[in-house]
Parts: sequence; C-alpha cells; structure tokens
Amino acid sequence: MQIIDLRSDTVTKPGEGMLNAMMHARVGDDVYGEDPTTNELQAICSDTFCYEAALFCPSGTMANQIAIKVHTRPGDEVLCGDLSHVYHYEGGGISFNSGASVRLLSGDRGRFTSRQVVENIHDRDDIHSPISRLVVVENTCNKGGGSVWDYNELVRISKVAGQHDLKLHLDGARLFNAMTVDGTKPADYSLIFDSISLCLSKGLGAPIGSVLMGSKDFIHKAIRVRKLLGGAMRQSGFLAAAGIYALKNNVDRLVLDHEHATILGKTISSCQWCEKVEPVESNIVIFRIKDHIDEGLFANTLKSSGILCSKFGPSVFRLVTHLDIDTAMIQQACQVFNRIKME
Ligand SMILES: Cc1ncc(COP(=O)(O)O)c(C=O)c1O
Repeated sequence: MQIIDLRSDTVTKPGEGMLNAMMHARVGDDVYGEDPTTNELQAICSDTFCYEAALFCPSGTMANQIAIKVHTRPGDEVLCGDLSHVYHYEGGGISFNSGASVRLLSGDRGRFTSRQVVENIHDRDDIHSPISRLVVVENTCNKGGGSVWDYNELVRISKVAGQHDLKLHLDGARLFNAMTVDGTKPADYSLIFDSISLCLSKGLGAPIGSVLMGSKDFIHKAIRVRKLLGGAMRQSGFLAAAGIYALKNNVDRLVLDHEHATILGKTISSCQWCEKVEPVESNIVIFRIKDHIDEGLFANTLKSSGILCSKFGPSVFRLVTHLDIDTAMIQQACQVFNRIKME
C-alpha cells in the first residue's frame, strides 16, 4: 500500500539532485569560518533578503532561540501570538535559554494587530513590570493553519516596535510559502524585521537547516550563542549544499503544494464526518471532525488506508502538503476521504 504522509512538510527526503549537490559540496571547518559552501549559503540568503549577514543553524528552533537570546536580557518580556511556535513548540526555550517571560497576544489564526502590540507594551518607568523588549511574528503561522499575514499590518507593527524601542523578529519557517501567496519579496521583510529565521527543511525540502539573518552586529552575537547552544558545526557544507539546492530548485513549486492543500480542504469540507475546515491559505489544512466521532478510530481508519495526518487538538487534525506529495497522491487521498464513513 502506498503511504501518503501528510503529517508535516518536514518529512521530505532528499532526491537525487539534492543528494548529488551534497555529495559534491566543497567543505571546510565552519567553526573556523572556512566552509565555502556554508559561506555561500549564508551569502545567498543575506543577499536575497538584503541583510548584512546570515548564519546557518541546525534547526528552526535553534535559529529562533538564538534570535530571542540576542535580542533580550533576563527579565525582559517577549510579545508573540497565542499560537506561535516559539511559545508552544520550543520546549519553553524562551524562559530556559533567555530568562524572559512571554506575553501572548490572541489573534486571528495567529495574527495579531499593531494596536494589540501598543496595548500590551509595559511602561518602562514602572519598576513592577518586565521590560517589553521583543515582538515575534510567525509567517505563515503553523498552528493558525498556514495563515498568511497582511504585509501592511506587519509594517504597522514594525512602526510601533520602532516607536517603543522594541526589536522585531520573524519566525519565517514558511516565509517562502507566505511570499508565494501574496507576492511579497524577500527584501520587503528586511525593511521591517530586525531578524528572520528561515527554514530550509520544511517546504523547501532540505534534510536539515535554518538560516538566521540580521545585521552584522546581530549575527556576530548570534555566532556566540549558537556555539554555546552546541550548534556550531564543522563540515556543514554537506548540509548547506542541500539548502542551496533547495533555494534554487524548490521555491517556484510551492504554488503546487498550495493547490494541493486547497483541493484537500474542499474535499474534506464536504465529507459527512467533517465539522469544520479552517480556511486554506497555503500548504496546511486544519480540520475538526464531528464531536461524537472517536478521534483515535478516525486516525486509525485513515492510517489503514495509507493516509498519515497529525493530531492538532481535541477532534482537530492537520494535513501538510509538500515536495514528496504529487497530484496523483492528492487524488488518492481525496478518494479515501470521500469513502470513509464514520458513525
Ligand atoms: C513555524 C515554525 N517555526 C519553527 C519551527 C522549528 O523548526 P525545527 O523543527 O527545524 O526546529 C517549526 C517546525 O515545525 C515551525 O513550524
């Protein structure tokens, strides 16, 4: 039976072209700054996004955590969306690594407004309150169902952050998905964010790696934090080569992932067992099944038909389309969804 793995866009495996690029990478010791392929990846990213510098990191979590650590001091407060990855899925790293507290802003599928930011900034002269220091935005927002931020709202948030001396970090794990949807360009983001973390291992299909971008001074500090977190790598060019390949070959095709997700969302919304499908904006489909249906039984029924999905809350499931899912697989998955009857 063919397995259609829709749990996450992180499950992709490198194809022949990517493996070839990795096999033939020129490498050196990156802790000495001597790995030419890692340097090339960092230069491609900083040039593309118009930042002064970039740093290759082992994971998106580490890239976000480094950014938060560099931007804050213990006792500071980080403002982020109530669905954000940095809060829910990074092991409490904001407090563990940076000694900072978190102020959650509730929003529309992970998207908050500049007004909410203003309303949640503490008075710096009030010694009772933590110092509001950093705002973190996630675009697209994973737990928000791949929701894409309105760029104009991001500009307004950046203005507010600037007026109140707050730094602004973008968790851009799926930023290329967002740009594919709304036509924004990489340079639009460096205009407003102090730093961006960009994942190569999600929609772009590399096996490992994220790139953190920012000013020279920011990256200089980030290199030290990456080292202390154990993320300084040696011949990382083998992995950076996969990232370069991904950036060259796997960006334009993201539109197909979004089409596939739209097809899945439409099909599921008409199924007898479905309560609700969240609007599909990019490559993520979040849906709720009817309350009376046993969720374990539902997941097992899908699994025994070859469809893997992620559980995302009570009666809620997530599907993510990606590089290793083609249109025939989507059609097959839709047939399974239509066929399933749950009492
Ligand atoms: C929005 C977002 N940010 C960060 C990460 C962390 O990436 P990694 O799994 O490489 O640590 C993820 C992973 O799924 C994510 O979805």
